[in-house]
This record gives sequence, structure tokens and C-alpha cells, in this order.
Amino acid sequence: MSRSAHPAGPRHADVLTEGHYTAPPADLNALDPKVWAHTVTRNEDGVVSVGGIDVATLAEEFGTPAYFMDEADFRSRARSWRTAFGHDADVFYAGKAFLSRAVVRWLHEEGLNLDVCSGGELTTALSAGMPADRIAFHGNNKSTEEITKAVESGVGRIVLDSFQEIVRVAHIAQSLGKRQRVQIRVTVGVEAHTHEFIATAHEDQKFGIALADGQAAEAVRRALALDGLEVVGIHSHIGSQIFDMAGFEVAARRVVALLASVRDEHGVELPEIDLGGGLGIAYTSEDDPREPHEIAKALNEIVTRECEAAKLRTPRISVEPGRAIVGPTAFTLYEVGTIKPLDGLRTYVSVDGGMSDNIRTALYDAEYSVALVSRASDAEPMLVRVVGKHCESGDIVVRDAFLPADLAPGDLIAVPATGAYCRSMASNYNHALRPPVVAVNDGEARVIVRRETEEDLLRLDIG
Ligand code: LLP
Repeated sequence: MSRSAHPAGPRHADVLTEGHYTAPPADLNALDPKVWAHTVTRNEDGVVSVGGIDVATLAEEFGTPAYFMDEADFRSRARSWRTAFGHDADVFYAGKAFLSRAVVRWLHEEGLNLDVCSGGELTTALSAGMPADRIAFHGNNKSTEEITKAVESGVGRIVLDSFQEIVRVAHIAQSLGKRQRVQIRVTVGVEAHTHEFIATAHEDQKFGIALADGQAAEAVRRALALDGLEVVGIHSHIGSQIFDMAGFEVAARRVVALLASVRDEHGVELPEIDLGGGLGIAYTSEDDPREPHEIAKALNEIVTRECEAAKLRTPRISVEPGRAIVGPTAFTLYEVGTIKPLDGLRTYVSVDGGMSDNIRTALYDAEYSVALVSRASDAEPMLVRVVGKHCESGDIVVRDAFLPADLAPGDLIAVPATGAYCRSMASNYNHALRPPVVAVNDGEARVIVRRETEEDLLRLDIG
């Protein structure tokens, strides 16, 4: 997905038909700051630490596999989005990337809002004290219970995703004696350059209402006519793990054009537009993500320019980054188990987790980096595939990477940039116990989501 085309390297090139790798890095002990959380560093003794605590200590205390999240890094990324967009805009962190009550509190303290897309996420957000009016509720098939809970709790906006939902939400709001603030999600017809499963602005998919054939204008018409709804704006989300700003710019232009046509038809200037999330992060050194201030500048400029041209008041902009805030802040720590060299091919390194804690490699062919973190090594680079312990040959964590050839069972290796869509998409496949998330900050480590236990499994299995 974020992959650049990698020419086959000089070693084993003939057998790497489905691999994507570059030549081994010059220094296997180096930790590229692009892919590792801010406070991650390799100490003088060769052991890697985060938030001032070394991984050997962390593994001893919390076990492996485990996700370690750099709280200071999370807060600073959240803050830089907030600062980049300023007071005339809102940043809604997309909770689907990773949500826990601690994270909700950090976001609240850093002045961000929250996008949720299920009753479970809404409950988590409210229970951690996020004010309801700072929550946006999403989803293409919200249940009656979810809509009712969202309206009753007073969420700041519900993002309407279909004609049926316009009526459904209006009806529920009215029956509760409320007028619900809503945005209408449109598909702007942009082909985002990302994996098909996470591109969302082309028309042939389940989200939103198409701009192209006048459907979106019709949705606004219908929503404006309903007493239970206060239509505050238009929403567009073009996809995820995107590096190129061009798609966002086209989306912004088309959304502003809709605002202008709404003004012309109804005499109403909708006050908000939301341009969604989707900004890419570096999973490997090959990726070059945009900074929040560049993104804010580009989006503000295009919206301001288009609004001036259409003689519209500039609406309040909001964005919904998830991955770009939480992704780079965590790594997964694994213990190396079986090491299996396959002659002339590569070495399979099995770890104590796998597709149950990171499904992204199997699902999207995602690329990751990996490093030996419990010690430094001067050994030669060895081409490896890091695999899990599940009963499936597609159980791959890192498809192609280099680790030192003296790697041994018991070593700790870490996969960076696993803060987003790893714990949140984790499963119990093979009755694996989902790993904990441990927040590390300034010499202190604190479990924010505990490890699952066998009792947890049996508690659900009541047969
Ligand atoms: N807003 C909306 C309406 C979304 O649907 C999403 C992501 C976001 C914001 C946040 O996107 P982000 O900034 O995190 O890219 N499981 C996939 C990603 C699916 C994204 C779904 N929607 C993955 O692991 O890559």
C-alpha cells in the first residue's frame, strides 16, 4: 500500500518474486526516527528504550507480545495537529485507529475532538469524560440504538451516510424532542492512491452519497426539510494511508462547489466542512509523510480560495486524522522463538504474536520495519520474514526485512508504527490473548489496556 516500488536487491533477487525490499540498511542497529516513536533510542549498552525505560525491563514487567505507546509522542502529535489547524478549525481524532480511555483523556487535555463510529467507541469516549458536543458519530449502518444513544447524549454531530439514515436520525431526534446537528457524507469521486480496501471516495463502495449525479444535493434538500435535523455541513473522507495532497484538494474543491449550489438553491450557507482523515505515515524508511502544518496550509488555502471565488463565507474546516496521530507512537515488542533458515530463500523468524495482533500485513499487504532491540549486534544482515504463531501460512508480520544473522531465540524484536489499526483490529484467532497496551512516559510505564487472559475467553464462552 504505502510501498514504493522496490527494485529487487542484489541478494537472493531470483527468489524474491513476491517480496518488496531494498538492500540491507547500512547499520542494522540504527533506528530511523521516521518510523520510531520520538523517545525511542538505543542506549549505550545496545538495548533500546522508550520513555526512558529499556525494553528488557518492559518485557520482564509486562510480557510479550505487547504494544508500548510513547505518551509524550502521542500528545505532541495531537498538539501539532491542533496547532497547525488553529482556532478556526477542529481536529477530530479518529478513534477507530486506537481508542482507550487514557487516549480519550489525552485528547481532551490536548484540545482535540473525537470521531467515533460505533456504540462501543461512543461509550468509551463518554466514560472517559469526552464532552459529547466534541464527538462526531460516523458509520454507514448505525443502529437505532446507536443513533438514539448518540442523540440522547448530545453528540456534536452525526455524519449522515444514506438517504434512509437522514429520515431515521430525523425521526429519532424528533421523538426525543431534539434537533440533531448533522453533516452529510458525500463521495467526491476521487480515486485515492491507496489500497482498494481503504479507499473511500470513489463511487462504487458503501460509504456516503455521490456528488456526481446530484444525489448529494438531493440529500441536502431532504435533510434541510426535516425538523429533527440541523444541517451544519458536508463531510468527505477519501481514504487512508495517502501521501499525495492532490486528492484532498480535489475533494475540497468539489465540497465547496456543493456548498455554493446549496446556497444558490436554498439561500443557506452551511457553516462547516470536514475533509476526513487518511494522511499516511512512515512504516518504512521509504515513506515520506506530510507534516500537519503542510496539510493544514494546503487545505486552508484551497478552501479559502474556492470560497472566495464562489463568494461564500469560508466554512469552519475540520479533519479526522487517526493513523497520523497514533500510528507512529507505538511499537509491538515480540520475543523471538523458532528460527528457520530456508536454504537459498530466506530465514523465517517466528514470534510470540502474529496476525492476531497485526492483521494489516495479511489484509493489505502492508509493509513494516523490524529491529533487534534487546541488544546491538555487529553480525551480517540476514534476510528474514517475521511470522507469527498462528495456524496459517499467511500469518506474516513483516514480509521482508533484515535482522542480524546472530539472531537467537529469546531475543526481543520490535515492529514500529503499530499504534494505529493493530490493537484496534486485533483478534482472538486461535484463541490468542490480545496483547496489552502500555503507555510509557518519562520513566514510568502504565498498562492502559490490559492483556487478555484465558478467563476472559472462558467468560464469553458460556456453553
Ligand atoms: N474519518 C473517517 C470517516 C474514516 O473512515 C477514517 C478511517 C478516518 C477518518 C481516519 O483515517 P486515518 O487518518 O486513520 O487514515 N484499517 C485500515 C484503515 C481503515 C480506515 C477506516 N477509516 C488500515 O489498517 O489501514
